[in-house]
Amino acid sequence: MRRPTAAGNWKMNGLRENFDDIFLIDAASKHVNCDVILCVPDTLIKEMSERTNNIFTGSQNCHINKSGAFTGDISAEMIKDAGATHVIVGHSERRVNYNENNHQIREKANIALENKLKAIVCIGETLTERKTGVTLDIVKRQLVDSLPLEISGETIIVAYEPVWAIGTGLTPSIEQIKEVHDFIRIELENNFGAKIGQSINILYGGSMNAKNVDEISAIKNVDGGLVGGASLKADSFIPIINALSLD
Ligand code: PGA
Repeated sequence: MRRPTAAGNWKMNGLRENFDDIFLIDAASKHVNCDVILCVPDTLIKEMSERTNNIFTGSQNCHINKSGAFTGDISAEMIKDAGATHVIVGHSERRVNYNENNHQIREKANIALENKLKAIVCIGETLTERKTGVTLDIVKRQLVDSLPLEISGETIIVAYEPVWAIGTGLTPSIEQIKEVHDFIRIELENNFGAKIGQSINILYGGSMNAKNVDEISAIKNVDGGLVGGASLKADSFIPIINALSLD
């Protein structure tokens, strides 16, 4: 059985003064029955990994290369060296703002895995794609082209995040989430075999909050959430963690 995951994505938010929230989240995660990951800005990784006990430290991006003349970038090896265990790759804000494509995202996931980081691979359709009825085609293409060729539940988490639901307060209907998550599960099983396909956590992301988490996490094949805005404060993230924890 898959253990659920509550992942927070702090994006470009968080200073050392915000460690109070990290410590509260860490303390609240001690007795829960789910994995808690907080993907903080890289500036906080070292301290967070050293000063927390119950949560995993994640980064939000890595470069496709091991090292070299890439001013301002950070490699998977550096992230690992700083103490992270996870890294998000292919977030839609990276796909849109930095023109990252599926093939680059696969390279990022590959180098993350080489460095023993678990990769959280994000996929999801835009509003136009949703409206024109191509959501499943897009999701399939992203899955096939962004995931490494060899994966398992130990190395990969998939996050389905409809772009139009991120930071907007909008969420898809329960039926829409179910349709895509079921589809992703089948695709994973078809491409990687039933055992591996069943082992991989599929998270929902996009305006998840304490109010909608119960309904969304009750959907079959939703194995947790990737939470942006509501993960920034302990007050709003802890109820989500508790809701995702298995009884
Ligand atoms: P949101 O962000 O929860 O603020 O919508 C989710 C994400 O971007 O991962």
